[in-house]
Amino acid sequence: MTPVPHHIAIVMDGNGRWASRRCLPRVAGHKQGVVSLRRCVKACAQRGVGVLTVFAFSSENWNRPAEEVSGLMTLFTMALAREVPKLKADGVQLHFIGERAGLSAKVVAGIEQAELATAANSRMIFNICFNYGGRWDIVQAAAKLAAQGEPINETSLSSAMAMAHVADPDLVIRTGGEQRISNFLLWQSAYSEFYFSDKLWPEFDEAELDLAIQSFAQRERRFGKTSDQLVAKTLPPARA
Ligand code: IPE
Ligand code: IPE
Ligand code: MG
Repeated sequence: MTPVPHHIAIVMDGNGRWASRRCLPRVAGHKQGVVSLRRCVKACAQRGVGVLTVFAFSSENWNRPAEEVSGLMTLFTMALAREVPKLKADGVQLHFIGERAGLSAKVVAGIEQAELATAANSRMIFNICFNYGGRWDIVQAAAKLAAQGEPINETSLSSAMAMAHVADPDLVIRTGGEQRISNFLLWQSAYSEFYFSDKLWPEFDEAELDLAIQSFAQRERRFGKTSDQLVAKTLPPARA
């Protein structure tokens, strides 16, 4: 059986294009994106993924037309109200990663309620990055340490970051054909494997997820070492 990455992170891109191709408003694409996300969460849990992290709304997405931003906020609260009881029953532990200041009281209430309702679950951790930017996370972590008079080093910074409760992502998937990071997990993806899919997010199904997992299984993660060092480690020590 193909080894499954412990932590998969996804830039769910392409909702707008999916809708435009069908002459639908962009928000219809986001709505279909929620359906795709629900399918993906289920598939990851079934495959034994330990942590799933998705990029749902970036710090920069506020710059979109007001109608799309408000449509996304409404969809977010509606999807939470509908899906949290099911996620709770499925054993999924929800976390929201991002800046809460700037979000409406309704959105923050939905987030807090969802985190509380699923806190005791342990089958899979599901992080939703919402009003999130990788630069924001690095800056808020450094500012927190500075305010506490703590030294800033890789260990302290990592533990002050918004994703400190999980290991770094093993596999970062981006759908929608673009090959860029767009301010996602800048610090945490230092040694992640990347997989870019031309599928638009609403089209990304179980078979596409399996293709990404298969591609990951073929990578050699060297973490700065040589290939020979990694092979030597898996062989029994040579007899004298
Ligand atoms: C990603 O899909 C979802 C969000 C950014 C909220 P897009 O809305 O970016 O879709 P495209 O890239 O315009 O097709
Ligand atoms: C990245 O997608 C953010 C999310 C998926 C939430 P964007 O569509 O915003 O990224 P750019 O603007 O094309 O880089
Ligand atoms: Mg996009």
